Amino acid sequence: MHILNFSTAYTFYRALATPDKHRQTRKRQAMSSPAARSITCYSKIPEFLLGTNGQPMPAVGLGTASHPFVAEDVRTSVLTALELGYRHIDTAGLYASEWVVGEAMAEAVSRGLVASRDELFVTSKVWCTQCHPELVLPSLKESLKNLQMEYVDLYLIHWPMAVKPSKPHFPMKREDIVPMDLSGVWQAMEECHRLGLAKMIGVSNFTTKKLQELLAIAKIPPVVNQVELNPTWQQKKLIEFCNDKGIHVTAYSPLGGQRISKLNPVRQSDILEEIGKARGKSVAQISLRWIYEQGASMVAKSLKRERLKENIEIFDWELSDEDRFKIDHIAQRKLVTVQNLLCPEGISSVDILDVDVIEI
Ligand SMILES: NC(=O)c1ccc[n+]([C@@H]2O[C@H](COP(=O)([O-])OP(=O)(O)OC[C@H]3O[C@@H](n4cnc5c(N)ncnc54)[C@H](OP(=O)(O)O)[C@@H]3O)[C@@H](O)[C@H]2O)c1
Repeated sequence: MHILNFSTAYTFYRALATPDKHRQTRKRQAMSSPAARSITCYSKIPEFLLGTNGQPMPAVGLGTASHPFVAEDVRTSVLTALELGYRHIDTAGLYASEWVVGEAMAEAVSRGLVASRDELFVTSKVWCTQCHPELVLPSLKESLKNLQMEYVDLYLIHWPMAVKPSKPHFPMKREDIVPMDLSGVWQAMEECHRLGLAKMIGVSNFTTKKLQELLAIAKIPPVVNQVELNPTWQQKKLIEFCNDKGIHVTAYSPLGGQRISKLNPVRQSDILEEIGKARGKSVAQISLRWIYEQGASMVAKSLKRERLKENIEIFDWELSDEDRFKIDHIAQRKLVTVQNLLCPEGISSVDILDVDVIEI
């Protein structure tokens, strides 16, 4: 991966006479390599160029899954993030945040924080209860209605698992899990793309095994795999596989998720704290910088202005080889598993372990 540091990237940006030329240059760069590359956009957050057309996606996005969900807090966090320069927002049918994201984005455009919807990169996802060939397109249309938008930039299969049709919810009953028609669901995703309702399509929580199954049948390959990724769950095998196949990786729970501090392996990591102290950076920044250096983008959630700001101040410095060595040796633990999505009781007739293969 090629990363420009901020000062180089800024010079590069200034050297481009017009936004059109900027865009053409970005496309040329993307076409020279199937894997995503990174440059700096207007808001100073670098972008990765995705897919064969080199669609730019800002390296840091705002996560909008919030527990507990308080609509006003999420609205304020979206508006604050946009003010600070974020242009990438992550939502999903499951999060119940799409309508607030839509309202906040419309407000941001009307207040002049953002010139137009086209400046934004919006990701949404189809939940397991809609992971059926005939329900994917209606689910995207519902998301677009909530978002007040004509298209999403990226639409993802949230998990490689299908559950009996119902409104998106979790935890789900084990008895309601049904075999997933991956081929039919992906064809429906491809149709969403062909109709122009999803500029790009991809997946989330797919292991290398699931990606192999998908790549064998896809006419349009997935552009992104959004997965749990941080220094305490480094996913080296998956990242190598995705790089090899030209699939960009986006990290979710880049700060170890929303667990309270004592149970949070990232924010409680002594190693990250030690590195942060030595460099005058926070633990969160060390984690996010490490993810960026893996060539991955990330979606991080915060309801606090200072933290939103801190989380994008990671592009004008880098980790040392010694820092990277220490992080490489942090004990590994997957926090998000398919079991978290299911009621503890009950029995599934489908092999759910197949969804959650632990790959190190
Ligand atoms: N595809 C999937 O299956 C999937 C699964 C999980 C999440 N996601 C997406 O990924 C997003 C982010 O993941 P996540 O919400 O699990 O957790 P996360 O971004 O790893 O961590 C969020 C938590 O960290 C705190 N935080 C944020 N910035 C901080 C900082 N600089 N210093 C200290 N604490 C900080 C936040 O608290 P405050 O709000 O109080 O600041 C929040 O509780 C989600 O919102 C969602 O959009 C996707």
